[in-house]
Amino acid sequence: MQKEKTLCIIKPNAVSDNNIGNIIARYEKEGLRISAIKMAVLTKEKAEGFYIEHKERPFFSSLVTFMTSGVIVLMVLEGEDAVTKNRKIMGATNPVDAAPNTLRGLYARSMEANAVHGSDSIPSAEREISYFFTPEELYNRF
Ligand code: RTP
Ligand code: MG
Repeated sequence: MQKEKTLCIIKPNAVSDNNIGNIIARYEKEGLRISAIKMAVLTKEKAEGFYIEHKERPFFSSLVTFMTSGVIVLMVLEGEDAVTKNRKIMGATNPVDAAPNTLRGLYARSMEANAVHGSDSIPSAEREISYFFTPEELYNRF
């Protein structure tokens, strides 16, 4: 077990549905700590750069439109096995497949508007955290 940092995004649908507090409370209940947090509205360029690995996928343009459609919350979560732990708390990408007690099972509206993002590996987490936060904005909570 090792302390890790991972990027979480509370997506526009979950912010619009007033679920910021529910999502943060769940992470804290599960033992993760918030290392950094801010709100943003992404530009098209910023969202495209974030999802660059999906550039050739058929859903890319729709995903960028959705992710720029409203306010999001960007958070760095810290804790034991934070990357894997966050993926478990989030649940499957498609809410139809997400367990009922996961964040996507609870708060997703669709495959695209699926409430939260979580880094899928430690290298992804490092890239994604530095894409949105400067080192000075991160606090070690352990
Ligand atoms: P995320 O990156 O947001 O944490 O989600 P993920 O790893 O579970 O899923 P990924 O394959 O990385 O896809 C990124 C996001 O694109 C949207 N998506 N739409 N319409 C579709 O077929 C489709 N597939 C993916 C979702 O918002 C997904 O979270
Ligand atoms: Mg992903």
